[in-house]
Amino acid sequence: MSEENKEPVSVEQAQDVADQSVVNPWEVTGIVDYGKLIERFGSTPIDDALIARFEKVTGKPAHIWIRRGLFFSHRDLNEVLDKVEQGKPFYLYTGRGPSSDALHFGHLVPFVFTKYLQDAFNVPLVIQMTDDEKFLWKNITLEDCARYTRENAKDIIAIGFDINKTFIFSNLEYVGTMYPNILRIQKCVTGNQVSGIFGFGGSDNIGKHSFPAIQAAPSFSNSFPHIFGDRVDIPCLIPCAIDQDPYFRMTRDVAPRLGYLKPALVHSKFFPALQGYQTKMSASSTDSAVFLTDTREQIKTKINQAFSGGRDTAELQRQFGANLEVDVPYRYLTFFLEDDEKLKDIGDKYASGKMLTGEVKKILIDLLVDMVQRHQEARAAVTEDIVTAFLTPRKLAF
Ligand code: TYM
Ligand code: TRP
Repeated sequence: MSEENKEPVSVEQAQDVADQSVVNPWEVTGIVDYGKLIERFGSTPIDDALIARFEKVTGKPAHIWIRRGLFFSHRDLNEVLDKVEQGKPFYLYTGRGPSSDALHFGHLVPFVFTKYLQDAFNVPLVIQMTDDEKFLWKNITLEDCARYTRENAKDIIAIGFDINKTFIFSNLEYVGTMYPNILRIQKCVTGNQVSGIFGFGGSDNIGKHSFPAIQAAPSFSNSFPHIFGDRVDIPCLIPCAIDQDPYFRMTRDVAPRLGYLKPALVHSKFFPALQGYQTKMSASSTDSAVFLTDTREQIKTKINQAFSGGRDTAELQRQFGANLEVDVPYRYLTFFLEDDEKLKDIGDKYASGKMLTGEVKKILIDLLVDMVQRHQEARAAVTEDIVTAFLTPRKLAF
């Protein structure tokens, strides 16, 4: 474990002077160099050897997002695979900050991947809805935050999580059970440390300063007595986009001091904004995002305006081809077009000028419209009773 003794990287350090990018839980700007980010954050790249091991242990081909390098970084994934090989349990933990009614395609990335991991490993999963976080950071009433938790939970449930293995919780409701662990974590972290890691200042409200302990607590199995009893020896794997890593650097730092296991992580790259790969798709900038509630017409308009690496005219495009590196529609296809051969064929033809931007956009529009349609059908089947059932503390198959 090479990062074992490294101090958590501070916000200042995380703003690399050379590439000018900023990556933290609240802001992603600048052209993110993911290789450099791994160095700055002190995580480990997911390499071919790890992918091969993953496939051996699960007995299945790795998810396209691993093979295509979209989940690109990890901490201690090898240790989790060791446990699986030894027949020992682990659990998955991920979350969502419910700040609006609508999820966008970027939000799907960690959840769809988590569902794949739950199926591949047949393990329990806890999903934290940080309604408290959104109340502290945004101008939203507590009542609205609580409502967004339930609305967002419907979208998450629609992805297909197994109710017998999944506990979704609202911090507003559940935080009491985790309070002993929250206190233990709070006692280990000074004000200077959270300011260093998260960039909080003297004028930030005190709720923000203590919030990281609340996002850290679900990393420890005894925060869920109805699932794990008082066991502290069940390791946790957290799938998330790399912006959430500062929370878990802090968590990994305090874990050994509490006699707890450090959580393992798998990090994804960002699903880019419509305007370009320089920034992530974000719900707070509504024209950067395609939402799971958008109509066919809205999706069509948005994708047709998306930043393109194609040439200005059809003639130039046929002559020089597109720059796939910066082409947003092509990048979206790399996330959601599952057929490897089809993707390669489109990439080859588009890069060489045999295919025009409009044709690629058309393929993407049809794909996204179909996904949204299927998602909305699945979501409509999620009743209030089903939401309540997922949100009720209970034993899970474990
Ligand atoms: P939130 O609601 O901002 O984001 C939820 C999850 O979606 C990821 N994400 C993205 N992934 C790819 N491309 C994007 N454009 C994109 N935008 C968001 C986030 O990394 C996150 O995994 N504080 C958290 C909630 C939380 C959490 C957790 C997340 C609580 N505990 C444990 C992950 C793991 C939040 O506000 O996420
Ligand atoms: N049904 C998809 C799958 O099994 C998961 C999913 C649900 C999804 N809703 C979605 C994927 C919306 C993309 C968009 O992979």
